[in-house]
Amino acid sequence: MKSQVRYKRVLVTGGAGCIGLQVCHELVSQGFKVHLLDLGEQIARVRSAIPAKVRIFYGSILDHSTIREAMEGCNAVIHLAALLGVKRTEVNRLRCLEVNIDGTKMVLDCAIQYRIKKFIFASSSEVYGEPLQNPIDENAMTQGKSVYAISKLAGEELCKGYAQKYPDFNFVILRFFNAYGPYQPAQFVLPRFILNALRGKPLVINGNGNQVRSYCYASDTARGVVAALQKNSANGHVIDLGNSREPVTINDLAGMVRKIIGNSHLPIKHRRNFKGADRTAHREIRHRYCSGRKAQKLLGFKPTVSLQKGVRAILESASIFEKWESTESPYIIDEMT
Ligand SMILES: NC(=O)c1ccc[n+]([C@@H]2O[C@H](COP(=O)([O-])OP(=O)(O)OC[C@H]3O[C@@H](n4cnc5c(N)ncnc54)[C@H](O)[C@@H]3O)[C@@H](O)[C@H]2O)c1
Repeated sequence: MKSQVRYKRVLVTGGAGCIGLQVCHELVSQGFKVHLLDLGEQIARVRSAIPAKVRIFYGSILDHSTIREAMEGCNAVIHLAALLGVKRTEVNRLRCLEVNIDGTKMVLDCAIQYRIKKFIFASSSEVYGEPLQNPIDENAMTQGKSVYAISKLAGEELCKGYAQKYPDFNFVILRFFNAYGPYQPAQFVLPRFILNALRGKPLVINGNGNQVRSYCYASDTARGVVAALQKNSANGHVIDLGNSREPVTINDLAGMVRKIIGNSHLPIKHRRNFKGADRTAHREIRHRYCSGRKAQKLLGFKPTVSLQKGVRAILESASIFEKWESTESPYIIDEMT
């Protein structure tokens, strides 16, 4: 059996999102034909960043005819569309379940009808909840704390269920760990820090700031996604995808942003008891970052963009900050470390 397959035409759901845009660029640069499906207002928001060769389909993964139209002629699907963000998913629990579970099921149903050969599902490190130890690997127990985590676990199980029923259907589940990049919604921690720092406002941290994460630049994440699409050896696997090289505390992250922006006197404020935050202290994850060994072994994945470089790259595209300001999407919201 060949270890690498070329899928000619690929549908990327949520292709106008932070990771999706980079995935579309990566696919186009590797010669794939790309169909992008996303909500109209999100596509409008990032229109100029979508590669010219991509075919755009406007609409929701909760609409059968939109999915069918977008999937026509494709032989692989990268399913990234989802409702995410701490506050948005907690405040709209039913919507989160609808988009992330019902929507995923609708995309999978259509994938079976169209005899899609390979399906990449975007899951999340949130399914691990608070890990018992770090770095975490794929054998760790899943103990997600949130409705979002449960919705992602349900999506994973749907992929496994469809593959069990339809043996020609191949899937890879990728659990992303803290991806960031241009066009990330302004309420996520890095863009929020950067925006505040640019305006000379304090950087606000929930809790004591000793929470540890490891951030992966979205173009690196995208290379991992496309590698998962191409490698047969990844089929049927759950793979953590993140940058395991640079675990950082939120305090250090804030300090780094201040330094890169050139204003090391900017105040850093802590909401130690989470008062006014989008989450309760109970909902917060203290330490979580992945080992990355399986991604390296199965996908040959090695992140290349350091956190310093990634933050600088976002700063250089200053016009994006204007867009964040003027056209915030109602669908993708809120703080998430
Ligand atoms: N960024 C991260 O750190 C991270 C971590 C874990 C998992 N993920 C997962 O990766 C995927 C991509 O995340 P991202 O960071 O690019 O987020 P994003 O919010 O930038 O992208 C999600 C995209 O899905 C689209 N979408 C939402 N509802 C839709 C619907 N009903 N129909 C069609 N499109 C819809 C949004 O418009 C958006 O463009 C998501 O599935 C997310 O859950 C991301």
